[in-house]
Amino acid sequence: SSNMMWGGRFSTSPDAVMEAINASIDVDRRLAAQDIAGSRAHSDMLAACGIITAADRDAIHAGLAQVEREIADGTFAYSTALEDIHMNIEARLKEIVGAPAGRLHTARSRNDQVAVDFRLFVREACDRTAAQILKLQRALLAQAEAHADTVMPGFTHLQSAQPVTFGHHMLAYVNMLDRDRARFIDARARMNRCPLGAAALAGTSFPIDRHMTAKALGFDGPTRNSLDSVSARDFALEFLSAAAICAVNLSRLAEEIVIWMTPQFGFVKLSDRWTTGSSIMPQKKNPDAAELVRGKSGRVIGQLNTLLVLMKGLPLTYSKDMQEDKEALFDAADTIELCLEATAGMVADMTPVAEKMAAAAGAGFATATDLADWLVRVLGLPFRDAHHVTGRIVALAEAKGCDLAALALADLQGVEPRITADIFEVLTVESSVASRTSFGGTAPQNVRAEIAHWRDVLARE
Ligand code: ARG
Repeated sequence: SSNMMWGGRFSTSPDAVMEAINASIDVDRRLAAQDIAGSRAHSDMLAACGIITAADRDAIHAGLAQVEREIADGTFAYSTALEDIHMNIEARLKEIVGAPAGRLHTARSRNDQVAVDFRLFVREACDRTAAQILKLQRALLAQAEAHADTVMPGFTHLQSAQPVTFGHHMLAYVNMLDRDRARFIDARARMNRCPLGAAALAGTSFPIDRHMTAKALGFDGPTRNSLDSVSARDFALEFLSAAAICAVNLSRLAEEIVIWMTPQFGFVKLSDRWTTGSSIMPQKKNPDAAELVRGKSGRVIGQLNTLLVLMKGLPLTYSKDMQEDKEALFDAADTIELCLEATAGMVADMTPVAEKMAAAAGAGFATATDLADWLVRVLGLPFRDAHHVTGRIVALAEAKGCDLAALALADLQGVEPRITADIFEVLTVESSVASRTSFGGTAPQNVRAEIAHWRDVLARE
C-alpha cells in the first residue's frame, strides 16, 4: 500500500532499501516525549485560535495521553514503514481517535516539528550536562579541601617543574569545568527560541499564535524567520562544540589519573570500584575508567565533526541529510554525560598518596627557582645572573648525585661566595609552595581562599 501521509500522490510502495535508508525511527524514537509535548502545545494553540474545535483538541489530548502510556509501558508498536517518530505517533493517534488526528498537522510540517523536538531535546541535554559538570566540580572541590597543603610536583613538559599543592591542581580543573558549564548555559540561552509554526519553510496562512506555543514549551519566544527556523542546526553544533571541549578537558584529567596511578608515580590510589584487574597478571590494577574517558573524548570530537560536515554544503532550507543530526547528537550527549559521571566517581574515590607526591616534589631540583629568587631578593642579583648561578649549583648537585638541600654551604659558596646558610630555608618544598602567594598562586593560604570562593560559587548553582 502507498504511504498514509502522502499516498495521494503515490501509487506504489517504496523499495525495501529505500525504506531502510529513509527510516530514522530506531534513532528518533528518543524524541517521543518532545514530540508529544510539541503536539499538545500545537493543538492547544490551534483550538485557542479557532483553527480546530475544542472537541478535536480534547480528542487529540486524550489520544496523545494513550500514546504516551503505550510508549512508557513498552506496548507501542514502532514501524519502520512509518519512517520516523512523528509519523509513528500520528498514525497511532489516528487509530485511537480517528479524524481529529488528521487535523493536528494543520499549519505544521515535519520540518518545524522536528526542529522543535530536537531543540527541546538539546535544551534538556544542556541542562543535564551542566548539572553533571557541577557534580564533578563539587567532587574536585572536596579533594581540594582535603589537600590544600598536600605538596606534589607541578609539571611542564611532564618534567618536574615547581612544587604545587594537590588542592591547587584540583582547583585548576574546577576552573576549567566552570567555563565548560558556562558554555552549555550560554548555548541553551541562545537556542531557546521556538521554531514551531514556521511550517514547511514559508510560514502558514492559518491565523496561528506562535508566541503561545513558544511560551507553552518554555521558550523565550518564537524564532523570527521561517526559513532559518527549519534550517538551523547551529544550536546542536553549539552543544557538540561545548561537549567536545568539555570532553577534551575530561580527557586531560583522565590522562593525569592514568599517569598518577602508575606504580612508577604512585601519586593516587583508586579503589576496586574504579579499577579493573588483568586476566593474566595478578598484580595489576588498571585505571580503565580513566582510559575510557580519555578514549571516549574522541567519539565526542568525532560527532562534532559529523554534524559540521553534514551541514556545510546544505542550501536552505531542509534537506533529508539533516535527519542524520540526531544520531550524532544523542551519542555525544550520552557519552559526555557518562564521562562526567565516571570522572566524578573517580575523583571522589581517589586517595592521594602524600608521601609519594612530596618525595617526587623534592626530586629533580624542583626548588631551583626558589634558590634563584633568594639570590635576587637577598643578594640583589639581577634575575638572569641568579638563573646562571643557580644553573651552576644544579650542575654541581647533579654531579654529586644529591639534592640542592643536601649540598654543603661551602659548595654553594664555591659558586657564589656571598651565599649564607639561611638560603637552606627556601630549598624545602613546603617553603617553596608557601612562598607562592601571588594572586592565583599555589600557596596553601591562597588555595584555602579559592576553596572558599568556589564553595560560594557552587552553592549558588
Ligand atoms: N525524520 C525527519 C528528520 O529527522 C523529519 C523531518 C522530515 N521532513 C521532511 N521534509 N522529510 O529530519
